[in-house]
Amino acid sequence: MANLVQSFFILVAFISVCWTPVADAGGAKVNNVTPSMARTILIAAMSHEMDTVASADLPSSLTKTEANTTCIMTYCTDAALDCVKDQACRTALSCLSTCDSLEDDSPDKIELQKCTADCVVTYENEALDAVNGCFDSHDCIALTPIPLACRDTHPAFSIPQNVTDMEGAWWATWGKNAVYDCYPCQRLSFSPLNASSWLYTSKYLTPTLEGGVRAYELQAAFPWPADGMATAIAFNYTYQGMSHGEEWRFLHVDPSLVVLYYCGQGNTWQYEGGLVLSRERSSPPDHVSLAAEAFAKIGIDFEEEFCELQPNRPCPAL
Ligand SMILES: *[C@@H]1O[C@H](CO)[C@@H](O)[C@H](O)[C@H]1NC(C)=O
Ligand SMILES: *[C@@H]1O[C@H](CO)[C@@H](O)[C@H](O)[C@H]1NC(C)=O
Ligand SMILES: *[C@@H]1O[C@H](CO)[C@@H](O)[C@H](O)[C@H]1NC(C)=O
Ligand SMILES: *[C@@H]1O[C@H](CO)[C@@H](O)[C@H](O)[C@H]1NC(C)=O
Repeated sequence: MANLVQSFFILVAFISVCWTPVADAGGAKVNNVTPSMARTILIAAMSHEMDTVASADLPSSLTKTEANTTCIMTYCTDAALDCVKDQACRTALSCLSTCDSLEDDSPDKIELQKCTADCVVTYENEALDAVNGCFDSHDCIALTPIPLACRDTHPAFSIPQNVTDMEGAWWATWGKNAVYDCYPCQRLSFSPLNASSWLYTSKYLTPTLEGGVRAYELQAAFPWPADGMATAIAFNYTYQGMSHGEEWRFLHVDPSLVVLYYCGQGNTWQYEGGLVLSRERSSPPDHVSLAAEAFAKIGIDFEEEFCELQPNRPCPAL
């Protein structure tokens, strides 16, 4: 027991040294385990092991989290303890604590989001998802917000598209969000689920900090317009323990090309991105120029802001 408690203190001391008061950032497929959550997990675990830890006894840096300790002690101590006892989960926490030292002053905090995403995809396991999910479902933490002006109300989105044309399998060929769209590869599919809903599946590879790649799969059901025509689809899903709400806005849909913009939220982090979907592994030049024109209408410079997904990577089958 002593050893376990001691190791908490070593970790906490390490995190305290690394802690600088930067805003925590973070939110398509957002890895919302932040540095402040890492600290919070440790507080919860310490509190559990030592029975009572007056907050005055905690290292001062630890009190800077936006965590509701009552909430954590009531609902999440077991999950926090399981995480701290687990090697990979602990490694994830110390990896996340290094993101604290980043000085990312940009409004969308892409660097900070990338740092947390890299730690999570490299070390994520059930223990990390469980503690993250526990905090999220009980509203035990409030992340420092990353506000974003969504472009949802832009007049360019006013023309309904025939979303029935989206049925079937697609390749993501170009993406906007450097953290959540620019994967080595991503495949998507859309299929009818029942009279009022469709199912969206995404399979993608993310690079890990250890030089490998990790395969992920995400599924979400979304309401389907009765006549197949829509300007947007909205859906909620849970990813790595955290619930998300997302809205996809269509700039163009035909049977061989989809151009969409999305804006979403997980906890208090907002994020936006965009995708070009083709039936083939890479988009022909006329698709790329159509997409570039469509994004220009909503103030996004395609050449500057989009990445091409690597067309020659092995990719999971759908
Ligand atoms: C903290 O969490 C407890 C338990 O969930 C809740 O009753 C209380 O209202 C929360 N406090 C704040 C400030 O949100
Ligand atoms: C939408 O596309 C589907 C499939 O291509 C087609 O069957 C349907 O008639 C189209 N709907 C409209 C309103 O154009
Ligand atoms: C269709 O599926 C969705 C998602 O699973 C579900 O919420 C909804 O109740 C279903 N609707 C019908 C009519 O079965
Ligand atoms: C998603 O969640 C929000 C907030 O809980 C809710 O208002 C909205 O209706 C949900 N949307 C769908 C498509 O389930």
